[in-house]
Amino acid sequence: MISFVNLTAQREKYRFELEKAEREVLDSGCYIGGPQVQALEKELSEYLGENTHAITCASGTDALTIALMTMDLHPGDEVIVPDFTFIAPAECVALLGGIPQFADIDRETLQIDPKSVKKLISKRTKGIIAVNLFGQCAPFKELREIATKHKLWIIEDSAQAFGARTSQMACTFGDIAITSFYPSKPLGCYGDGGALFTANEAFAQKIRMIANHGSAGRYQHEIAGMNSRLDALQAAVLRVKLKHLDEELVVRRQNAAKYDEFFAEYNCIVTDGQKIVPQKIETGCKCTYAQYTVLAENRESFIQKLKAAEIPYCIHYPAPLQEQPCFKVPIAVCGMMMTEEEWAANQTGAEWASEHAISLPVCAFTDVAEIIEKLKAHL
Ligand SMILES: Cc1ncc(COP(=O)(O)O)c(C=O)c1O
Repeated sequence: MISFVNLTAQREKYRFELEKAEREVLDSGCYIGGPQVQALEKELSEYLGENTHAITCASGTDALTIALMTMDLHPGDEVIVPDFTFIAPAECVALLGGIPQFADIDRETLQIDPKSVKKLISKRTKGIIAVNLFGQCAPFKELREIATKHKLWIIEDSAQAFGARTSQMACTFGDIAITSFYPSKPLGCYGDGGALFTANEAFAQKIRMIANHGSAGRYQHEIAGMNSRLDALQAAVLRVKLKHLDEELVVRRQNAAKYDEFFAEYNCIVTDGQKIVPQKIETGCKCTYAQYTVLAENRESFIQKLKAAEIPYCIHYPAPLQEQPCFKVPIAVCGMMMTEEEWAANQTGAEWASEHAISLPVCAFTDVAEIIEKLKAHL
């Protein structure tokens, strides 16, 4: 059986290092915070560059919540988020009483579309959460221009992209950036975990305080905060995996290149006329390929082929966020009938992507050549 993310093979490869690190923590008697967490934060910050503070926490979702609290989000404030991504960015805004405004995406890169962001800015807009979707950097140059012009902050959601880069490293574009260490992420631990990054000293101090019960000193609570700490065992695991991250990212990119080549050929030889086009990666972007995602003209027909070939797949994501029941605002039926052409012309990029996007196994321990052979046999 091919697994979607082969964490077992990864553990096997690093077993000696991991078991040593895990044993040291278990024997140390220090399980929350302490030297492992401090060392990891130092290593994460060195990986990104000297000016970046790294503060770990309990998950990527917590990291987004803490980032929004650091930015003093108030009930009724609007935050622009992409309509096509995992729910966390919009969910955290809503949980704090803010109003997520859903920006459309580019149909080729699947990243947030700056043109759509501009249209959503109102007097109540406070900031933008830009997601580095599937491991590619969002269009930060354009987003920063918009943010500067309208005095907005940017939170960079790099849950899927720690280790990516364009002109600079992912996690260094936003006023605050976050990542997730969920096990299947390119840098994942053995449970939940996350981190925040910022070059701003004052933000860094506030983030630390919020993540630790709003506490500046023992039993002294400046603000109402959270209990959001990375435990020492996860930090020790992450320190081992961080050492191997760059070599794994090289393999992920090689795997993606094999798929790219195959799909370029497939679109020439296919007989049913159903195109399959990989997500466009902008020139100069070193993607983490948290997902290798293609856009299949007829996704159902492609799924049947994957099933026949016993190749696992995931649908990231089956619906635009604003279509989710928790965000959906009932829209009065206006009784207007649309032709198929009108409907297609009105369809957003997010709606379109949720009907066509499908992700294939791509991690550093996936045998992509084997998958391609299996696929060829079922075309
Ligand atoms: C884009 C994005 N943001 C945030 C998160 C939340 O991270 P976590 O699962 O660590 O809370 C995820 C997790 O999949 C994600 O993909």
